[in-house]
Amino acid sequence: MQVRFNIVRQNPNSSPRIQTYTLEVNPGNTILDCLNRIKWEQDGTLAYRKNCRNTICGSCAMRINGRTALACKENIGREIERLNKIAAQANNSKAPQQIDSIPEMTIAPMGNMPVIRDLVVDMSSFWANLEAVEPYVSSEARQIPEREFLQTPEEREQLNQTGNCILCGACYSECNAREVNPDFVGPHALAKAYRMVADSRDTKTESRLEKYNQGTFGVWGCTRCFNCNAVCPMEVAPLDQITKIKSEILARKDESSSQPIRHRKLLLEFVKDGGWIEERKFATQLFTYSFAGYKELAKLLPLGFRMLIRGKLPKKFVPSKGTKEVRSLIESIQKLNKQSFSKKPDKN
Ligand code: SF4
Ligand code: SF4
Ligand code: FES
Repeated sequence: MQVRFNIVRQNPNSSPRIQTYTLEVNPGNTILDCLNRIKWEQDGTLAYRKNCRNTICGSCAMRINGRTALACKENIGREIERLNKIAAQANNSKAPQQIDSIPEMTIAPMGNMPVIRDLVVDMSSFWANLEAVEPYVSSEARQIPEREFLQTPEEREQLNQTGNCILCGACYSECNAREVNPDFVGPHALAKAYRMVADSRDTKTESRLEKYNQGTFGVWGCTRCFNCNAVCPMEVAPLDQITKIKSEILARKDESSSQPIRHRKLLLEFVKDGGWIEERKFATQLFTYSFAGYKELAKLLPLGFRMLIRGKLPKKFVPSKGTKEVRSLIESIQKLNKQSFSKKPDKN
């Protein structure tokens, strides 16, 4: 079958352009197989990264038809199926559309990193942000025993999911928070950060949690868009790891610690009380805790006033009919969390 490849190309200090190549391919060919053939048979100037060709090294991440993926993992057949499904959804039809014309693949460089050339991006910020979370097990505070540090199978199992990260950059490329906040370290770094927090041999848990709790550098910078979980080729689920770090922080801090912590705790209390959030009280209680908070609240007043005159501010709060059920769910989860925290070994 024939497939057309629209590849976004770029030279240093110039604007991107699209160059089109047509190949005769099999549905089982990977995108990387196709790029190799374009380079070897049609245009030796095409630049992209690759190494293992087997989803191990993480070199070949690029945007394939709109989302970042590994070129050696995705194949033509599955991409066509995916594009057909997207087209069918866009046309609101139940059956996937049959496309009669030549299928097209759009290949672009990863996002959130500057392009060096064609599909090769400069990953310096990716590596610097990984370094910023101190991604090494620290045994500083321990007396070094003569034998290596042993772990039980259960302790080792805690590291399996995050240990699967191949540092491909797909999550970083699609991270909405990174796009607007240069301070945020990114999903790959926070997945690694959780790997350190969960490691029974590491002795810096408390200082790590303090660090990951700072401003929007760490976990509170995440906007929970879910993109990192959706694109990760190794099922590391960085957002889940960020959530676990948040739980560890929340278990140690009270609501006066910072606004993000106060936000989470208040939100939970409101939902437990009335099944959903009492928004008027939520804003006032969130911000009237400190002088800086009053200033934040004052910024919201024009919005509140506009809502009031347009009838969008509810006159009274009506608790949800499912309040009891919601409360019991929250309490069960809190109980489970407590048990899992109390089971953790004392690392120090
Ligand atoms: S977490 Fe997943 S997407 Fe992100 S760098 Fe690691 S393997 Fe790649
Ligand atoms: S969920 Fe958070 S870390 Fe993951 S991509 Fe979205 S903003 Fe980034
Ligand atoms: S070439 Fe190594 S992961 Fe694709």
